[in-house]
Amino acid sequence: MRKKHFWLSAAAWVSLLLLVAGCGGTGAGNIPARDAAQDSPAVVGDEDLSYRNTPLESAAVTPAVQPVATEPGDSRTVPRSFENAPPVIPHTVEGLLPITAADNQCTECHLPDMAEDAGAPSIPASHMYDIRRDRKLTSLNPANYNCTQCHAMQTDAGELVANSFTPDFRSDKGMKESDLLERLNEGVR
Ligand code: HEC
Ligand code: HEC
Repeated sequence: MRKKHFWLSAAAWVSLLLLVAGCGGTGAGNIPARDAAQDSPAVVGDEDLSYRNTPLESAAVTPAVQPVATEPGDSRTVPRSFENAPPVIPHTVEGLLPITAADNQCTECHLPDMAEDAGAPSIPASHMYDIRRDRKLTSLNPANYNCTQCHAMQTDAGELVANSFTPDFRSDKGMKESDLLERLNEGVR
């Protein structure tokens, strides 16, 4: 009885080994195909990676750009890139960055109760709203604290890559003002 049991087990082991070997064979069959692809990767030169068509490491030809120097209050707002895009910062950010936990000068002019006195556009309703919990807030949402994460400072740099994108605003108002919070779930519900 015990002996028969042994032979059954041995047969089972042999089948198992054959199965494993079979699988291995199939796997090994796949590997050369992958290796072949790796042997001849398309070579992309430094010049092809660079938007300015010069090797990436040659800093000498990096075009010099001047950041916008106009003081807040003296600049003109720039039309939005598309409806409800974060507007770019039209004035200088000199002396205002970096934004730290202890110091955020942007809020000193742009929070709703500061904006009028500073003659600055107020942050929109979306920045005082916890979208995740669908809850109105009485102060700036911490998720909106790091202004320059979304609002870009400006320089006089030209277009490095031609861009033919044309925004399609539903009304002229959308070029200058935002209403993201009202439109948030449009087309979803
Ligand atoms: C001293 C007040 C002041 C401070 C500080 C300030 N701003 Fe402004 N900001 C303004 C004013 C005023 C305008 C309107 C344009 C103008 O008159 O220069 C403006 C315009 C803007 C706009 C354009 C809004 C639109 O509708 O197009 C953005 C974005 C902006 N600021 C972001 C920032 C960020 C980010 C910081 C911090 C790095 C900052 N501002 C710091 C006063 C200020
Ligand atoms: C997570 C991205 C994000 C951050 C961070 C952020 N904003 Fe915005 N901001 C936007 C977007 C997107 C809009 C336009 C759509 C909207 O929210 O209504 C906007 C709009 C604005 C406007 C135009 C208001 C209007 O009525 O048209 C001002 C001014 C502004 N932000 C200031 C700030 C300031 C100051 C901070 C930092 C305290 C800040 N934002 C942080 C994304 C951001």
